[in-house]
Amino acid sequence: MKRLVILASGSGSNAENIIRYFQNSDSVKVTSVISNRKEAKVLERAKNLGISHTYFPKKAFLEDEIVLKHLKENADFVILAGFLLKVPQNIVAAFPDKIINIHPALLPKYGGKGMYGMNVHTAVKEAGETETGITIHYVNENYDEGAIIFQAKTAVATTDTPEDIANNIHKLEHANFPKVIEEAIL
Ligand code: GRF
Repeated sequence: MKRLVILASGSGSNAENIIRYFQNSDSVKVTSVISNRKEAKVLERAKNLGISHTYFPKKAFLEDEIVLKHLKENADFVILAGFLLKVPQNIVAAFPDKIINIHPALLPKYGGKGMYGMNVHTAVKEAGETETGITIHYVNENYDEGAIIFQAKTAVATTDTPEDIANNIHKLEHANFPKVIEEAIL
């Protein structure tokens, strides 16, 4: 059985989708959800789905070994699903090629510091891109620079608002992320 811990900072629609996807799996189990934001909706979603969920403040990630300990005890792979903190070096080092992130753009475009959430979709819109997409990749010590596992594209119409782009990206994420995780880890 491969155990997943999901790290997320926000709504957690991807986290929920991954939990549901593996709910009846014999080979993959989501053991826990961690958030660095106490109020994040992802914690409520995990609770409703009967998954262990824990809030760790930023300080715990950066200064303590407590998150690393939790991950070592509960995870074979770590999944970042809208996780907005940079993953600390001690965690990256403990899980080489075992941390998988989803980024809502076609890396290397629209990656790096500050490029998250609506910032990405607004930048895509302002640049007049005709397509954008998602990137699922391994995490290394630099933001958004680990080896790419999978990308998928979606068209951007001239009439699309950044919110429209965000909706299309979410659909693409939900359709692909669990499957790509499954293929990468089994
Ligand atoms: C997703 O678009 C993901 O790519 C990005 O943050 C968003 C999280 O959405 N990193 P949700 O919280 O899973 O709904």
